[in-house]
Amino acid sequence: MSGKPKLVPLQGAAPDAVPRHVAVVMDGNGRWARQRFMPRFFGHKAGVDALVRAVNLFAERGVAYLTVFAFSSENWKRPSEEVSGLMSLVLVAVSKYLGKLAGDGVRIRIVGDRSAVSDKLRLAWEQAEALTRHNTRITLAVAFNYGGRWDVVQACRQALAEGVAPGDFDEAYLSSHMALSFAPDPDLFIRTGGEMRMSNFMLWQAAYSELFFTECLWPDFGTREIDAALAAYAQRDRRFGGIRQPVVAEGD
Ligand code: IPE
Ligand code: IPE
Ligand code: MG
Repeated sequence: MSGKPKLVPLQGAAPDAVPRHVAVVMDGNGRWARQRFMPRFFGHKAGVDALVRAVNLFAERGVAYLTVFAFSSENWKRPSEEVSGLMSLVLVAVSKYLGKLAGDGVRIRIVGDRSAVSDKLRLAWEQAEALTRHNTRITLAVAFNYGGRWDVVQACRQALAEGVAPGDFDEAYLSSHMALSFAPDPDLFIRTGGEMRMSNFMLWQAAYSELFFTECLWPDFGTREIDAALAAYAQRDRRFGGIRQPVVAEGD
């Protein structure tokens, strides 16, 4: 040991860091369609194609979990034709893309309240999850009839049903009962479509996510935007409430 301390890279500064988990609010389908003088459904259809492209692009860049907001617990407020259009689009999307996603090594998980969707849709979700459960390239979690507040409440309900003692009920306990308990917290939270709000997505899990907002409308989201988001992420200095300081290692 020479005794001379050696500086190792600053905590949090990681120019080539790739987020392990990316969460995306896929917003802007309706506006994308309107720009083309087309009905909103046309935008949602293009949004499905954009999602299938994005999964592979994120996987190629080393992202292990991608969670996308596809239908919120508040989206039921939309006109009934749009809601039913979205429900049938999911069925079409599953039959069109499930084989491809399964072949691409994508593990699919659905997060959200399944009790309110049709039996047909529930069956399609189950089929997608079963067919892809052994895949390991990337996990795609589709948040459908999902809300961050719903998730907290359903996790608490489970805890109450288990009769947990107040002293044993802590952050880890709650996290382990949440819909996304199989994934680490998202490192990067992206929202397309220009709005700067969370709209009830991942309220608990995004406590320390890096936020990235882009004007790009979801159907246009591709390589350029993904690389811009990942480059921005790599510049961020994540501190998790600590302070940025050099870590001094003992010299050899
Ligand atoms: C997001 O696009 C998709 C869903 C909410 C299902 P929108 O449908 O919200 O599109 P905009 O925001 O109206 O453009
Ligand atoms: C958030 O987008 C939900 C999804 C992308 C599924 P919204 O379009 O529903 O959000 P608000 O209404 O603009 O907040
Ligand atoms: Mg929207």
